[in-house]
Amino acid sequence: MPQDVDLLVDSIGELCTSASDAGLLKGAELGQIRRIKNAAIAARDGIIVAVGESAEVAAQVRVTDKTVRLDAQGRLVTPGLVDPHTHLIFDGNRCNEFLMRCQGRSYAEIAEAGGGIVASMQATRSATMDRLVALGRKRLAKMLASGTTSCEVKTGYGLDLDSELRMLAAIIELSGSQPVELVPTFMPAHAVPPKMDRSDYVNSVIKDMLPAASKMVADWGGTAFADVFCDRGYFTLEDTTAIFDRALSLGFKLKVHSDEFVNLGATTLAIKYGAASCDHLLNVSDEEIGMLAASNTVAVLLPGTSFFLNLAEHARARTMIDQGVAVSLGSDFNPGSCHIFSLPLIWGLACLHLKMTAAEALNAHTVNAAYAIGLGEKVGRLSPGYQADITIYDVSCLEEIPYNLGFNPVSSVIKRGVVVRAPEEAFQSDLLDRRGTTTAPLKN
Ligand code: NIG
Ligand code: FE
Repeated sequence: MPQDVDLLVDSIGELCTSASDAGLLKGAELGQIRRIKNAAIAARDGIIVAVGESAEVAAQVRVTDKTVRLDAQGRLVTPGLVDPHTHLIFDGNRCNEFLMRCQGRSYAEIAEAGGGIVASMQATRSATMDRLVALGRKRLAKMLASGTTSCEVKTGYGLDLDSELRMLAAIIELSGSQPVELVPTFMPAHAVPPKMDRSDYVNSVIKDMLPAASKMVADWGGTAFADVFCDRGYFTLEDTTAIFDRALSLGFKLKVHSDEFVNLGATTLAIKYGAASCDHLLNVSDEEIGMLAASNTVAVLLPGTSFFLNLAEHARARTMIDQGVAVSLGSDFNPGSCHIFSLPLIWGLACLHLKMTAAEALNAHTVNAAYAIGLGEKVGRLSPGYQADITIYDVSCLEEIPYNLGFNPVSSVIKRGVVVRAPEEAFQSDLLDRRGTTTAPLKN
């Protein structure tokens, strides 16, 4: 019996989504996708009810005069993109540091000279809640326009009780007042504030900040992660262990910035604690790659950061995938080490620098990214029962996303069954020729 639907997206040129309907994707499964030509998607109350070739979907659903119909005009469609790692609430910018790095100074040297996280802390501490919310809203609108429909957001530029709570309150305020679905992460252990002893600061994180944040999250009624930057010059393995113990006891789920510059053993620790994700992993060991593969902890790789820092080495995605690690991709959008919020650009960098295929990157940006932030059962796939979060691109096939490096290919976005970003005039032009075909493979 066909059911009434309130959204029908049809005339999709190519619909791409994970080949499987549930679960984290490891090893060869990461590269397995379903491609449906001449496809349609129907949704009701924000949930997908039918996906497939247009004729199949038409047979399963009934379009009424209340149904919103979106003609995709032959465009490419994927699940809404999920960004599992951002630091998008901050004031001020650090373009000076970017240019210093262009002249050969390293991230660590600049941080030692008074730049880095502490520089953003100063600007962020003096910002009001309204200003933090306004800045966040603007950035989220740009992310949405680049296809992001769900996003993790960290605190970590307050570094004192009041300012960290103000950042958390700003994230909570934004989560209910703009279309991108937000997952908050409390991260006072992002850096030690100036003139403060590290162990005193860790004690205040444990005694004051985590309990106050957990209360704010409980009053809001959602769930949150806690994260620690475990690296040389930031927090030790012992600090990380103590913060994890307290955070877990207060109901936070865990994440860690591990092995970005130096391997202090944070990945091993996080896996032992059942963390949802380990992020960065530039210096993860072979043994830890094996441990990740045997766990359900997601590896969040951030190729924008190694690119923006102009590092010679990138995360060993190929080894991780081949060994069976659940690899995902995020932006790490922040004012210092990666001022990039565009997931289509990260996708291109993942292909170029991490040697991932376009299909692996799709699943890493959707299914596995959703699992990294606790949304894996709800978003990341275009299958019945999942939220109708849909990104539509002004290209005709998946491989054109990484190929259009640096150009925003997104034309419209649907969140929970509602068109939150409509196709723009520009996309009726011939900027990208959707009718153009990919040239045949060259002979060797
Ligand atoms: O993920 N590594 C720690 N935090 C950020 C950098 C933040 C900053 O430089 O402001 C990162 O790279
Ligand atoms: Fe980060």
